[in-house]
Amino acid sequence: MREFRKADRLNDVHYEVRGPLLDEAERIEASGQRVLKLNIGNPASFGFRTPQVVVDTMRDRLSDVEGYSSSRGLEEARQAIFDYESGVKGIPNVRMENIYTGNGASELINLVMTALLNDGDEILIPAPDYPLWTAAATLSGGHVVHYLCDEQSNWYPDLDDIRSKVTARTRAIVVINPNNPSGVNYPPEILQGIVDIAREHGLMIMADEIYDRLLMDGKRHTSIASLAPDLFCITFNGLSKSHMVCGYRIGWMVLSGRIELGADLIEGINTLSSMRLCSNVPAQSIVKVCLGASISSTNDYLVPGGRIYDQREYIYNALNSIDGVSVTKPDAAFYIFPRLDVRRFGITDDNQFALDLLRRKRVLVVRGTGFNWPAPDHFRIVYLPDIDTLRQAMEALADFLSDYHQGA
Ligand SMILES: Cc1ncc(COP(=O)(O)O)c(C=O)c1O
Repeated sequence: MREFRKADRLNDVHYEVRGPLLDEAERIEASGQRVLKLNIGNPASFGFRTPQVVVDTMRDRLSDVEGYSSSRGLEEARQAIFDYESGVKGIPNVRMENIYTGNGASELINLVMTALLNDGDEILIPAPDYPLWTAAATLSGGHVVHYLCDEQSNWYPDLDDIRSKVTARTRAIVVINPNNPSGVNYPPEILQGIVDIAREHGLMIMADEIYDRLLMDGKRHTSIASLAPDLFCITFNGLSKSHMVCGYRIGWMVLSGRIELGADLIEGINTLSSMRLCSNVPAQSIVKVCLGASISSTNDYLVPGGRIYDQREYIYNALNSIDGVSVTKPDAAFYIFPRLDVRRFGITDDNQFALDLLRRKRVLVVRGTGFNWPAPDHFRIVYLPDIDTLRQAMEALADFLSDYHQGA
């Protein structure tokens, strides 16, 4: 019989939804042992619930959202997105026809990469990144050039590194702010620096701001598009994390600034948007209530006494007290990206590190190179589990590292 092989274009696409580490975790669980999972950013897996008003709104609306919507999305959802991105976030020159809803921000990131990139076009994406960006750009034939975020400077993008990597083939700069996996929120000066580089070289800016409503310590989020009225920008956002509705699948993108520069690209975006008919309409029906001022949603989690805040304090202190581990304090979301002293532990392969930790202590983390970080010296923890679970995991990690030497 003829074998069916995946398309060649997938050969360089790395996106670790599955893989040997998760297979191993499942094998351990199937043998009846508990795995402490610090690997998935899915609040529902850790007891966080969707606000009742959101569930009720979707239930009440189900009978009038049975059909396809316009391919960009329901007018009422896009009006709420307009009010938020233009009114609250100050993004300039947003028009209703340039707002699109999607089945999560993920669908729209893939869609824009397909619409934008020709084979070999370069796109600047941060390292570390949320790896969907690199995978989607690569799948579309783009050549991903990673610019460094600098751990010594609070994980802010290294502007000199960005500048040195712009070439005649560069089309766009991607900014993930607040960042997954570092959890850091960028100050306006850094964003302004990126805008200046984009302006100098005629690049478009794509901003993934899905964590902009999950800030702690009174920090404020600046949307990079609000600093760039004279550039063509696309801002991605969604409700998955801010309203604990990852499974509903609702996100959006907003085109802004000098829209006319993107006229041809927009034609391509509209074709692709129509080809998927529309995004999940019941999920669009909650946008208005979620972005309206009436529910505080996750805000209570993000202040002292709230789960995300307290868990961050715990994990940050616990990690920094382990010999050979150091970490920058995150401002946002629920991720932390610790550094390992690779000399001390003899680490040359972070996949092996994660596998050894899983096998010996049944703690599941994601290796740093999974986020396109170039060295095997980091790993990511999702600190959504409660403090008791985090404490068990940190005690296990400290014990594991007390005598770990890779290859020994
Ligand atoms: C930075 C970032 N962007 C986008 C997404 C995907 O979001 P959505 O659920 O809206 O597809 C995630 C999910 O973890 C993320 O961390």
